[in-house]
Amino acid sequence: YPIALLGVPIDLGAGRRGVDMGPSAMRYTGLQARIAALGHDVCDLGNVPTPMIETGAPLGDDPRLRYLDPIWRVCAELADRVATCVQQGQLPLILGGDHSLAMGSVSGSTRGRQLGLIWIDAHADFNTPETTPSGNIHGMSLAALSGRGHPLLTGLAGRVPAIPPDQIALVAVRDLDPLEREALRTSGIHTFTMHDIDRRGMAAVMEQAISCISHATDGYHVSLDLDVIDPKIAPGVGTPVLGGISYREAHLAMELIAQAGGLRSLDVVEVNPILDIHNATAELAVELVLSALGKRIL
Ligand code: ARG
Ligand code: MN
Ligand code: MN
Ligand code: MN
Repeated sequence: YPIALLGVPIDLGAGRRGVDMGPSAMRYTGLQARIAALGHDVCDLGNVPTPMIETGAPLGDDPRLRYLDPIWRVCAELADRVATCVQQGQLPLILGGDHSLAMGSVSGSTRGRQLGLIWIDAHADFNTPETTPSGNIHGMSLAALSGRGHPLLTGLAGRVPAIPPDQIALVAVRDLDPLEREALRTSGIHTFTMHDIDRRGMAAVMEQAISCISHATDGYHVSLDLDVIDPKIAPGVGTPVLGGISYREAHLAMELIAQAGGLRSLDVVEVNPILDIHNATAELAVELVLSALGKRIL
């Protein structure tokens, strides 16, 4: 597939500023040329226009759903742009931005087909307005895609759920809010925690994750939240949590995704250059993209 880059410099879904600079930080590493060097056709479609707090993005009146309206607008626009890429036979690569954008990218990519979803994240992003401790919508995006939450968000794909829970795999999760945890346990989502990776190894977990979402689907979307990686290696993220996956485990996960051959679209989100050290997290994000797109050591 030819690769189409799309930046989404949104930070309205996060509690902390800075991830709006993620797309620039990843482009700065030479992303497009490095994808081309792998032998792929690649074009950069620029950024999806994103309102910001300074220009008056409306917070809304529900503290459990901060910036609902502008986030919904950005996701609706992103879904259309991603669906257009897919129609043209491209593989969309979405550069974030906070993780709320995945409601748009996944909804657009699964339009007219049935994708599986692999969500690689320290968090489950499985809160709803009833369970959120923060009101930050980036903590609700997987719930919305699986059919739970505010109707504006669950409705982005035009069918509810956008992705049925048994076609979703959550990988390397290690930080859950109490009510989010209860909802996740009974959700039917295939959940592989950090504990499972410690015990069984990344290869076994990733192989099972890919196979359990690959029944009756036309490939899968991968949503990669950089905070899944240990903050010692990836300090430039909005919500760091101790005890993440290693540098090699992250590459191995991406290499197995590439080898399985089902990747149809990819998000790379939550890179926060303000908290980073010399763009190391953006650089790692780009290396992982290259592994997911087929880069091999030998
Ligand atoms: N569970 C917390 C919340 O809902 C943190 C979510 C972090 N999400 C993320 N995409 N980094 O507020
Ligand atoms: Mn996330
Ligand atoms: Mn996260
Ligand atoms: Mn399944």
